[in-house]
Amino acid sequence: MDKKLDLLNQKKQEALLGGGQARIDSQHKKGKLTARERLHFLLDEGSFQEIGMLVSHRSTDFGMEKEKYPGDGVVTGYGTINGKIVYVFSQDFTVFGGSLSETHAEKICKIMDLAMKNGAPVIGLNDSGGARIQEGVVSLGGYADIFYKNTMASGVIPQLSAIMGPCAGGAVYSPAITDFILMVENTSYMFVTGPNVVKTVTHEIVTSEELGGAMTHATKSGVTHFACANEIEAINHVKKLLSYMPQNCEEKAPSLPYEGGDESRAALNSILPENVSQPYDMREVIAEVIDEGSFLEVHKDFAENIVVGFARLAGRSIGIVANQPAFLAGVLDIHSSTKGARFIRFCDCFNIPLLVFEDVPGFLPGTDQEWNAIITNGAKLLYAFSEATVPRITVITRKAYGGAYDVMNSKHIGADMNYAWPSAEIAVMGAKGAAEIIFKREITSAADPEAKWKEMEQQYADIFANPYRAAERGFIDEVIEPSETRDKLIKAFKMLENKVVNNPRKKHGNIPL
Ligand code: HXC
Repeated sequence: MDKKLDLLNQKKQEALLGGGQARIDSQHKKGKLTARERLHFLLDEGSFQEIGMLVSHRSTDFGMEKEKYPGDGVVTGYGTINGKIVYVFSQDFTVFGGSLSETHAEKICKIMDLAMKNGAPVIGLNDSGGARIQEGVVSLGGYADIFYKNTMASGVIPQLSAIMGPCAGGAVYSPAITDFILMVENTSYMFVTGPNVVKTVTHEIVTSEELGGAMTHATKSGVTHFACANEIEAINHVKKLLSYMPQNCEEKAPSLPYEGGDESRAALNSILPENVSQPYDMREVIAEVIDEGSFLEVHKDFAENIVVGFARLAGRSIGIVANQPAFLAGVLDIHSSTKGARFIRFCDCFNIPLLVFEDVPGFLPGTDQEWNAIITNGAKLLYAFSEATVPRITVITRKAYGGAYDVMNSKHIGADMNYAWPSAEIAVMGAKGAAEIIFKREITSAADPEAKWKEMEQQYADIFANPYRAAERGFIDEVIEPSETRDKLIKAFKMLENKVVNNPRKKHGNIPL
C-alpha cells in the first residue's frame, strides 16, 4: 500500500505545481496570483474539494503527447463561501497559458452540470490565452459547449466571472453571458481582437489596456460591472456580491437577522435643494434609507445618470435602481436604459425585490441618441420593469416627467407600491417647456412676452408640479414625508413578501434587443 500511496502523492504534488515553479514565479512577477492561490482566498478555509485533478489532455499533434500537466490548465471543484456551496473553476496560466483544450473545457462543463443539478452558483476565475492553439477545432468546440451551458444556466443559478488575466477572441463570450463580470486593473483585459489585429484592420494604435482593460470596460463599454484595484479586491467583491443572492432561482433572496428600531430618518427631509433645478446626489438618499453601509453599487463608473446596486433593508436583500440627478440631471439615455434593464432582469431572475428612486427629466434628445436607437434601448428598461414579478416599489423624490414617468416602475406597468415625496413633480414635461407650447399665442401677443411666459409657467407648475394629481388618481399610493421613507418601505416590502404574479405562459418573451 505504501508504494501506491507514494504514487498517489507524487501525482498530486505534480498537479499542485501546475506548469512548474519557474512559471509560477513568472506569474508572481507579473503581480498575479496562481489559480490555486486565488481559490485559497476565495473559499472558506479548508472547504475546497477538487474534481479532476489528474485529468490530462489527449492531444498528440506537435509533440504534445510529451508535454502533459495533470489538471490540464484549470483547477475545478466545489467549496463554500460563508458556508454556502459554490462551484468553481480557476484557469492556470502556468499550463499552456491557461489555454482551453478539449479536456480543460470538459472539466469546466462537468462543474457547471453539477452546479445546475444542485442549484448553486458557478464562479469562474479566468486567466487564459484562449483556445489551445495546438488542438484546433476541438478547442473551439469546447468553448461552444461552455457557451451553451452558460446560456442554459442563465437565470437558474448565479454565474460570476472574475477576469484575472488575458481573455481574448471568442473566449470573452462565456463571461459575457454570465451575470456579473469583475476585472482587475492593469493585469486583465478582454477583447474580441487584440491590438495587433486592430492595427492591421483599422490602423488604430492602442495598448491592450486602452483597448480592453478594466477601466475601459468599466467606463466606456460597460462590459465589466466592477473594476478592482487588485486580485484580492476582486475576490472580496465576488464574496460580497454573492451575499445578496440566493443559491438559485427557486430560493428567496437572503435575509439577515434584523432587530427593528427607530426607522425615521430626519436627514432625508433636507437632502433636496430648495431650487428644483439644482442637482443632488441620489446616493445620499439611498444611504439614508437602507441599512447602514449595505450598498454595493454595480456598474459604478458606467452610465452614471442611473445608479444600480444591491442593498439591505431591515436585513433583506433588495436591488436598487435610481435616477441620478447629479449626473446629466438623471436623464435616461441608451446606456442608462440598458444598464438598468440588465440589473432589473438579474434581480427578477433571482427573487430580489426592486426599489426605485425616481427623479428624471425624461429621455435625452438628439441625433446621437435617436440614430443609435434610444427607442429600442429605452424599451429594454420599460420591458424589464413590466416583466418583473418580484415585489416592486417606487419612490418619486422630485421629477417624474413624460415617458420616463411611465418607464421608471410606474403603477401602470406593475409596480406594487408607489410613493411620492411632497417635492414630486409628475407631469408630461417641465412647466417652462409646457407653458411655451400650450400658451404660445398668449406669450407672443403679450406686451411683455417674458413676463407672460413666467406667469403661465407658474400657472402650469401650480397645477401639475406636484404629486397630488397622480395621488387623486391612485397612481401614487401615498404622499409621504421623506423622513418616513425607510419605515414605509420596510413595512411595504414585508407586506409584499409573499407576492405571486404569473405572467402569461409563453416560450419566452421577445425583449427588444
Ligand atoms: C497554447 C498558449 C496559448 C494558446 C499562450 N500559450 N497562449 N499555448 N495555446 N492559445 C502558452 C505560450 O506558448 C507560453 O508557453 C505560455 O502559454 C505563456 O505565454 P506567453 O506568451 O509567454 O505569455 P505572455 O507574454 O504573458 O502573453 C500572454 C498572451 C499570449 C497575450 C495570452 O500568450 C498570446 O497572445 N497568446 C495567444 C492568444 C491567442 O491568439 N489565442 C487564441 C485566440 S482565438 P510556455 O511553454 O512558454 O510557458 C480564441 C478562439 C476562441 O481563443 C473561440 C471561441 C469561440
